[in-house]
Amino acid sequence: MDRRSFIESCTAGAACLSAGTALPAFAANAKPRSYAKALLVNAQGEPLKASRLKPLTNYVFHYPYEATPAFLLDLGKPANPQSLSTKARDAYAWPGGVGANRSVVAFSAICAHQLVYPTRDVSFISFRKNRAQRGVQDALIHCCADHSQYDPARGAEVLSGPASQPLCAVLLSHDTQHDTLTAYATLGGELFDDFFKKYEMKLSLEVGPKARNPVAGQAVVSELEKFCRNAIQC
Ligand code: FES
Repeated sequence: MDRRSFIESCTAGAACLSAGTALPAFAANAKPRSYAKALLVNAQGEPLKASRLKPLTNYVFHYPYEATPAFLLDLGKPANPQSLSTKARDAYAWPGGVGANRSVVAFSAICAHQLVYPTRDVSFISFRKNRAQRGVQDALIHCCADHSQYDPARGAEVLSGPASQPLCAVLLSHDTQHDTLTAYATLGGELFDDFFKKYEMKLSLEVGPKARNPVAGQAVVSELEKFCRNAIQC
């Protein structure tokens, strides 16, 4: 059974566990989009241990393409499944957090308003452990461009600002035996086509010809404050 068939069988209610790898169960209306699997690793290429992530710390990696950033967060408490919908009103069921405490989540770091994203030079969008100046609560992903705010504990639902849909979720599986994390799909409103169109020139300078190459095998995770020289606070 290939990966897509496996996910589809999960949506039909079949068992979703295999060989010590915990995959979330999806509701019938979920439509995950499968990509190549990528084991999350640190800068030395060692597999990241889910239980060693620092809670409420903004990590970044690139998935499902070389140039598309995503945020990885351990929220420090379980993140429960959430019913959400895209701008086009396609309903989907975000499966919640993974890991021993179901507290580890990942989302595309491309703002759903006007596609602001973190680069090595600057980031206007980031996770805030404490409430941002114009934040509605602690522990939000806040985009300083126009103050869209997303709740990562609720599938990156929009709580405030002009964004018209949640951040696209990156789905992770957790290997319970080795405590590792693997990205394998996205769920929700993808904006990758718009992103590549809008930033074609910029990405060709920043990332080069491999910008739209799919990430496969492994994805390197860094803390945002190490990845980016200037994480804007607002
Ligand atoms: S680009 Fe993020 S709020 Fe406008």
